[in-house]
Amino acid sequence: MNTTGFIFDLDGVIVDTAKYHFLAWKNLANSLGIDFSNEQNEQLKGVSRIRSLEKILSWGNKTISQEKFDSLLHEKNEEYLRYIENMDESEILPDVPRVLNLLLNGNSPIALGSASKNARAILKKVNLIDKFDAIVDGNDVTKAKPDPEVFTNAAEKIKIMPNQCVVFEDSVAGIQAAKKANMLAIGIGESNILYEADYVFKSFEEISSDFINKLMSN
Ligand code: BG6
Ligand code: MG
Repeated sequence: MNTTGFIFDLDGVIVDTAKYHFLAWKNLANSLGIDFSNEQNEQLKGVSRIRSLEKILSWGNKTISQEKFDSLLHEKNEEYLRYIENMDESEILPDVPRVLNLLLNGNSPIALGSASKNARAILKKVNLIDKFDAIVDGNDVTKAKPDPEVFTNAAEKIKIMPNQCVVFEDSVAGIQAAKKANMLAIGIGESNILYEADYVFKSFEEISSDFINKLMSN
């Protein structure tokens, strides 16, 4: 086994589902009379379902009952589930399979570290679940990103020291969580947003096989 561990976020890193979370949150916010911008959406990426709704309500200066809160969370997830119902391999982001296969061929431990409670179902839909040695998702943690819990749990499961782990993340909260966990953080997205990462690439298409090989040999 290689001594470098690789931890992948799911939404917006492995699959193109960030757009569906965005649509569902925007519809929910707008239904409450709250505007929802792209900048606000960046602040929700990687953040748990509960924390996301708390943030939206605070942006709109709204207080609601616990019952209403729970029913909004349920509705948001139902809408999201409708978007991903027919999801298949075509929603895997470009060059993710190339990178996963390089890591598998190099005998590197691979984990998922996602805030989503839908993570396992999505990995099954896109036929990638077998590529992972360990999965830590929103059902397994009590503290949401930017807390490092999801990544430190993933490192424990693959039995790799945190400072020997590499994290791929598309969210500000996730990059912060990876850094707090003392891991190498690789941002997938825009460098002006993910500037706290150690490296930023627009997508896996920009990550050379050489770069991955070097990470594996460190
Ligand atoms: C993260 C997404 O991966 O999971 C967030 O970036 C989402 O947008 C969070 O809110 C929780 O996901 P879910 O599927 O449990 O609502
Ligand atoms: Mg993400």
